[in-house]
Amino acid sequence: MTLLALETSCDETSAAVVRDGAVLSNVVSSQIKLHAEYGGVVPELAAREHLKNLLPVAQAALTEAKISPAQLDAVAATQGPGLGIALLIGFKAAQAVAFALNKPFIGINHHEAHLYSPWIQNTSPSPLQGERAGVRGGLCADFKNFQPNISLIVSGGHTMLVLVESELKHRVLGGTIDDAAGECFDKTGKLMGLPYPAGPLIDKLAERGNPSAYDFPRPLLNEPNDDFSFSGLKTSVRYFIRDNPTILDDPLKSRDLCASVQAAIVEVLVKKTIRAAKRDGVRCVTASGGVTCNSGLRKELERACRNNGFTLRLAEKNLCTDNAAMIGILAERKLLTGAPLPPLDEEIKPGWQLA
Ligand code: KG4
Ligand code: ZN
Repeated sequence: MTLLALETSCDETSAAVVRDGAVLSNVVSSQIKLHAEYGGVVPELAAREHLKNLLPVAQAALTEAKISPAQLDAVAATQGPGLGIALLIGFKAAQAVAFALNKPFIGINHHEAHLYSPWIQNTSPSPLQGERAGVRGGLCADFKNFQPNISLIVSGGHTMLVLVESELKHRVLGGTIDDAAGECFDKTGKLMGLPYPAGPLIDKLAERGNPSAYDFPRPLLNEPNDDFSFSGLKTSVRYFIRDNPTILDDPLKSRDLCASVQAAIVEVLVKKTIRAAKRDGVRCVTASGGVTCNSGLRKELERACRNNGFTLRLAEKNLCTDNAAMIGILAERKLLTGAPLPPLDEEIKPGWQLA
């Protein structure tokens, strides 16, 4: 099966061509620079940018995959959750392509797709670089022996733990009750005067900082549930900076601050993930979403999984953030296993929560 997938749920315009578990192309146009000056994603701007970029991105994905529209067997797009006016662009375009080609169309839950990005491996950069960087790759051989796993989805908008019992069968265990972990990185970074998105910069500064220099709260760490909360941590950083106003003038102390904030976020994410895996008796942990790029999180998850004898599947860095490859891979699995097709007048679902 050859399938075109589109993803426009937030600030990445992406198109991928997937064939029999292989990602033939995955082109991503990121809007990060555009939104940086506003300190966050502006929905109206995101939608305009998707409108401008979607066709060139889709064209690039087809060209790179050496596939013509007539060779497509199906079309997929992110249906939700996400920004309504951003979702509309990719979803309606994909529906129109399917309609014109008289091929099946399927709408995909963005978070469900994140559950499968850690299984896409051996990605290599495509010839397209820079603004529209892309990758190739495919479902790893182990996917045939799919292991039940605990999946951590951690990004700027979401932080959740999901028990994936088998392929296409999952149950959400918990999520954040306020800010997402990426939001915590971005907002505490803003308090430190760092530009948006601050997560990657905090990661970089933390590399040479002392993670035990300052003691920040580990919210909900000892609560017997799988929920997260990061807004209190952000507030405690705010008070810490208020009470230590010169700290940001000292590069060494700033690095220690970054390392200490990162350590607090990472400890909660890792300990709650491992605890859920032990409790639910799975032997495999997976992680995806923008924050999974964080080197501290990757290192600590690796260490904790090694110590507990768990297999760890981290999404490769270029597939941690939003991309159409994961949408296409999941869409193909659904179509191959006979998922019912939605009617052609199906609409976007901006608030579609994974159950
Ligand atoms: O998955 P993503 O692109 O989509 C959104 O949910 O928007 O994730 C973006 C988030 C941002 O909050 C960004 O600061 C965070 O991921 N992020 C990181 C790192 N790279 C991206 N956070 C910490 N360390 C990183 N290296
Ligand atoms: Zn995402």
